[in-house]
Amino acid sequence: MSSSNFPIGVFDSGVGGLSVLRAMREQMPNESVIYFGDQGHVPYGPRSMEQIQKFSEGITRFLLEQSSKLIVVACNTASAAALKYLRGRFPDVPFVGMEPAVKPAAETTKTGRVGVLATPATFQGALYASVVERFGAGVELFQHTCPGLVGQIENGDLESNATRAILEDALTPMLEKNIDTVVLGCTHYPFVIPLIQEIAGGQARVIDPAPAVSRQVRRLLEVHGLVHESGKIGSADFFTSGDAATMEMLLPKLLGEGGKVQTVHWDDDLKITPR
Ligand code: DGL
Repeated sequence: MSSSNFPIGVFDSGVGGLSVLRAMREQMPNESVIYFGDQGHVPYGPRSMEQIQKFSEGITRFLLEQSSKLIVVACNTASAAALKYLRGRFPDVPFVGMEPAVKPAAETTKTGRVGVLATPATFQGALYASVVERFGAGVELFQHTCPGLVGQIENGDLESNATRAILEDALTPMLEKNIDTVVLGCTHYPFVIPLIQEIAGGQARVIDPAPAVSRQVRRLLEVHGLVHESGKIGSADFFTSGDAATMEMLLPKLLGEGGKVQTVHWDDDLKITPR
């Protein structure tokens, strides 16, 4: 089989990367994908850069063992902590990562005030500092880490009062400061866009970066001559380091398609093996 027919590997700390995968499945239905959610370690947001790098390296090795032709780091936190590191460790592998969409926000805001929701590790990383430096000039950015929101989404809790309260805490002070744009700097957050829109009440536009990231995946496949050749619908395989039944239950709700999820195990030396 030609390597262009190999799958695309996609990973996140949990189910967040499914927001990126959803866009990829819409835009490139012929591509096969392997999705890895590191639910044994979620959330990544409060962890150290070193730890996130080690997890990301182990997952990348695992995805390459499954013949992935390109790796999508469908996690802002892992991209902030480990994308540069991964490119150094695997120089021959094409990677696509995430960065908070400050650029399109800065280009379109009318009030010059933008809210950014992301995890602590994403805000601390050099990637975010560089995004702000390159694109944030003349724009006032209001940041919030939404503590607990990733956990709510991992539980499939997209609309309860508890989830709403976390978002209200984050958004109300920003809305009072007259933001007109909300950047979702965490791949879990697109799943609560309806709630964000309800809280913002028409005052703010929400930027979901997934479609743009998916287009970037497509561009990189073309550059490397790796676009899938057959006209068939690509397969989707799912792995988790947590509970397979939980992810299986969430797939139809978050991805819009179901699938079989396999549980894998992390060894003490941070190698992943199928159970
Ligand atoms: N989905 C993640 C992100 O994009 C990580 C959330 C977490 O594990 O804290 O940042």
